[in-house]
Amino acid sequence: MDMKKANLHINKHFQIGEIDNRIYGSFIEHLGRAVYEGIYQPESPFADEQGFRQDVIDLVKQLNVPVVRYPGGNFVSGYRWENSVGPKDKRPETVDLAWQVIESNQFGLNEFIDWSKKAKTETMMAVNLGTRGIEAAKNILEYSNLKSGSYYSNLRRQHGWEEPHDIKLWCLGNEMDGPWQEGHKTAYEYGRLAAETGRTMKMMDPTIETVACGSSSLQMPTFGGWEDTVLMECYDQVDYLSLHQYYGNRDNDSAGFLANTVAMDQFISQVISICDAVKAKKRGKKDIHLSFDEWNVWYHSNEQDKDIERWTQHPHQLEDVYNFEDALLVAGMMITMLRHADRIKIACLAQLVNVIAPIMTSDTGAWKQTIYYPFELISNLGRGTVLQTEIDVPFYESVHGDAPYLDSVVVMNEEQESVTIFAVNKDLKEQMELAVDLRQFEGYQVDKHVVLTHPDLKAENTEAQPNNVVPKANGNAALDGGHLHAILPNQSFHVITIKKK
Ligand code: AHR
Repeated sequence: MDMKKANLHINKHFQIGEIDNRIYGSFIEHLGRAVYEGIYQPESPFADEQGFRQDVIDLVKQLNVPVVRYPGGNFVSGYRWENSVGPKDKRPETVDLAWQVIESNQFGLNEFIDWSKKAKTETMMAVNLGTRGIEAAKNILEYSNLKSGSYYSNLRRQHGWEEPHDIKLWCLGNEMDGPWQEGHKTAYEYGRLAAETGRTMKMMDPTIETVACGSSSLQMPTFGGWEDTVLMECYDQVDYLSLHQYYGNRDNDSAGFLANTVAMDQFISQVISICDAVKAKKRGKKDIHLSFDEWNVWYHSNEQDKDIERWTQHPHQLEDVYNFEDALLVAGMMITMLRHADRIKIACLAQLVNVIAPIMTSDTGAWKQTIYYPFELISNLGRGTVLQTEIDVPFYESVHGDAPYLDSVVVMNEEQESVTIFAVNKDLKEQMELAVDLRQFEGYQVDKHVVLTHPDLKAENTEAQPNNVVPKANGNAALDGGHLHAILPNQSFHVITIKKK
């Protein structure tokens, strides 16, 4: 039988758009060991003078994450930001209903800003539109962004932060469509509140951008109507609409699991259509862009989390141990988002450390989960312009409909005179031949071909065996007369960069 073939068709003049680097964002929530024992552990030998784990900061920096969403997540819907600032010995221990734990408030807003600077990232802050509203949102913005001369800006200075934090990106609540959310609202109730909160916040600081809550997943019964109603209320006051989506392989159907990129693509396209329909109905001038501010694989820890004792502090929670097939899907999800780079301006891998995360910590060290690698490779090499990429490849049947055997996208970086192809061969049995006509890129040569593959889809990286699943620069891509050819082994992720020499 002939080998399966994938032909990628590109033209450097046919472009989807410039990548907004914030598409490589992530997320830290006060949840489990993300903050405590994750990024903050004063008693750790790895901690710096502020109690921040330096080993974690080093790993975060390698991921090249331009923005980190904070402090939640479901946590934010009960958040009293005032409890998280000021002298640490005066901060109260509070009940977090979202995760049924006690929050010590020993790490808060100002510490997060300092940590972000050290990790070379910006803050995407969320306000509480669950149990609170306009007043609290106005006050946290005043505390954060006003230079001085008002009660809350002076309070920040009194707390030791003389200069404003200048936080530019603000989420108006979190997953307000979810019945699990404290202060859950109907679309109309939320849309009105988002409009008035956004309006008030922009009166305080017109330089900020705001994100309205879209649906918590494509599976939400209110999906579609929610987006439409919310945006009809707050179109003028918001810049982005959020999407959240997590996938799991509960039925151990790996081909179907990898085909989730089809469902994700559909989700994105439908949300774009709704944003554009509202723009038309409003006779609007601006596009509403997308903020895919929670995405990942999340299911491994579901069962063990049922046994967590309530009202403890930072328990092991949502500590998914990722395997190789998860890494393949994470690569596929990033490729899918890049293919919509004209509309997705922000995305946050949920989350960053210990909680459904690429980075794990223990008292003795930090290590990289399998999903760390596709994120690191795409975040570092996927900068520039996304080219329209037509993929000519066979399809397979899946629970999500027909799925192409190859997920792929091509990114051109004119400044660096490079072109990078990201591709996942989802065929679990057979290798595939990849062919790309690159004659438009005269004088370019293959710079590297990195491959992430493993014979066992369930292979994991653990503290004891951290290098079980790692990428290798051992691909066989070759350019001959401007035609690129590579053999992609079954179940594999590829990063092929060509550069002008
Ligand atoms: O990331 C974990 C949780 O998933 C977040 O708190 C919530 O927004 C979502 O449901």
